[in-house]
Amino acid sequence: MNFTSQELRQKFLDFFRSKDHAIIPSASLIPDNDPSVLFNTAGMQPLVPYLLGEPHPLGRRLADAQKCLRTDDIDKVGDTVHLTFFEMLGNWSLGDYFQEEAIAWSWEFLTASQWLGLPADHLAASVFAGDADAPFDRRSYELWQQVGLPDKRLAKLGKENNWWGLASHLGPCGPDTEVFYWTGPDPVPEVFDPNNPAWVEIWNNVFMAYNEQPDGSFIPLKQRNVDTGLGLERVLAVLNHEPDIYLSDLFQPVIAYLQKVSGRLYGSETRTFRIIADHLRASAFLLADEKAVTPSNKDQGYILRRLIRRAVRLVYNWPMPASEILSGVVEQIIVTMGEAYPELVRRHDFIISEITKEINKFNHTLDRGLKEFTRLVGDHHLISGADAFMLYQSYGFPLEMTKELAQEQGGIVDEAGFQEEMSRHQQLSRTAAAGKFKGGLADNSLATTRLHTAAHLLLQALRQVLGEGVYQRGSNITPERLRFDFSYPNKLTPEEIKQVEDIVNKQIALDLPVTCREMSLQEARRAGAMGVFDAKYGERVKVYTIGSDRPFSQEICGGPHVQRTGELGHFRIIKEESSSAGVRRIKAILED
Ligand code: ALA
Repeated sequence: MNFTSQELRQKFLDFFRSKDHAIIPSASLIPDNDPSVLFNTAGMQPLVPYLLGEPHPLGRRLADAQKCLRTDDIDKVGDTVHLTFFEMLGNWSLGDYFQEEAIAWSWEFLTASQWLGLPADHLAASVFAGDADAPFDRRSYELWQQVGLPDKRLAKLGKENNWWGLASHLGPCGPDTEVFYWTGPDPVPEVFDPNNPAWVEIWNNVFMAYNEQPDGSFIPLKQRNVDTGLGLERVLAVLNHEPDIYLSDLFQPVIAYLQKVSGRLYGSETRTFRIIADHLRASAFLLADEKAVTPSNKDQGYILRRLIRRAVRLVYNWPMPASEILSGVVEQIIVTMGEAYPELVRRHDFIISEITKEINKFNHTLDRGLKEFTRLVGDHHLISGADAFMLYQSYGFPLEMTKELAQEQGGIVDEAGFQEEMSRHQQLSRTAAAGKFKGGLADNSLATTRLHTAAHLLLQALRQVLGEGVYQRGSNITPERLRFDFSYPNKLTPEEIKQVEDIVNKQIALDLPVTCREMSLQEARRAGAMGVFDAKYGERVKVYTIGSDRPFSQEICGGPHVQRTGELGHFRIIKEESSSAGVRRIKAILED
């Protein structure tokens, strides 16, 4: 049995299509309106509004392969299983089926010979044991018994293992049941031990029945949902009896290429090769994203910068220039994954040119920075916080790079000292930073919803003032402000800014109705709705219209929005600046 990633992806989607699920395309890696996280880290994140009760245009049963990025485990990348970028296969019930079907279908997909055909005697499951917030998940336990799992292969665990919700601890959540596969030597132990790493978790089924409140309490959700997640790379490894995920077809071409250009073997450079393969893959997907992230010193852009710079440093002593090696890696990634993710092919030139630019930028300081590091690390092998900060500020060394360098020489970095230096230098006031992270969907939903509607007004106002060449290039909303990127080559004059504000405020004063209608992509296009007309959307889309007879604005959008523009208050632009070449950025607020 040798599965390819494409076969697994396809089988999963085919299976759920056969159970009447609509297949939806992956959403962007960057969340739409959730300021509490930089990236989508699970398949359910882009679906939060629907899990909270908004109707989804494609129905109540959905399945997809979602691009995800997690940075919390970045230090573990280099072992056999950890990745930053990964694909999560998932199926959803939005107030439709619940535990019975979800568990029966998980079992069928995993074990039936025409699907994955995994041996049932290698499987085990854990279920929620119950606590003060929610009871023992007896139903899941019984359903696993019914499909044939013996009690010895069923574990009851607490919230830390068998409960799932957003990182913000707000919104939809519930008990989950996880499926494990025995990857150790035969015979398979009779008793399931969740602490034995040879039992690898392959699928999580969340039974979302609760809505976590800002005060930490759990109230029943309007509808009961199912949210599942199956890590593509891990399941592939299990199917192929190959514990090293980098040996699947997803990474093989990159590894082979790295062996060729370095003249070294995977067996001797294992960790380095894995980190390069993972980091460049994540970078390529960030650059290819519909909300293209480019390297910068902030937020998602800084993560991208760190991923690229780490890879550059790792190939520093290799026989070819970093730009040549790493562009070659990216070419391999695009060839391997371009069929499943055509945006990689479409944005090929942009990805290569941005990565090359970043490499060249870093090359200016890398040499001198490494010399400075060698001088600093000296004999006592300790890098002070101030020195680590100097390397960061003067030579562009991310903290983890300095740490990695120090480790290679048996030294350490005063990380707490670095953080202190960092906060001393940071521009952002304490309150602004606190405001940014306290966000989340539920507690600040009204503030973000108002700003979201303001974003639609802003786009249309910009088009009226600056012309039809203006398109949205990205947006990010926190409860405090709206950040909006759009295509336009020049700095806006104070008069233009004033005109834009006036147009938006006029629409607010008119108290226009905001309505939502579902239609086909065709109809939306004909109606002249704004939006990106590509594979991002399924066949049916939601169009939000502001105004009635001759609407002021029409956009394809997932919502949510306020019902009337009069709810918005006074709109004010607080900043206009360049975002990247040909893209301007506006920050705006709503005042009461
Ligand atoms: N949302 C669940 C997870 O990420 C399925 O594990």
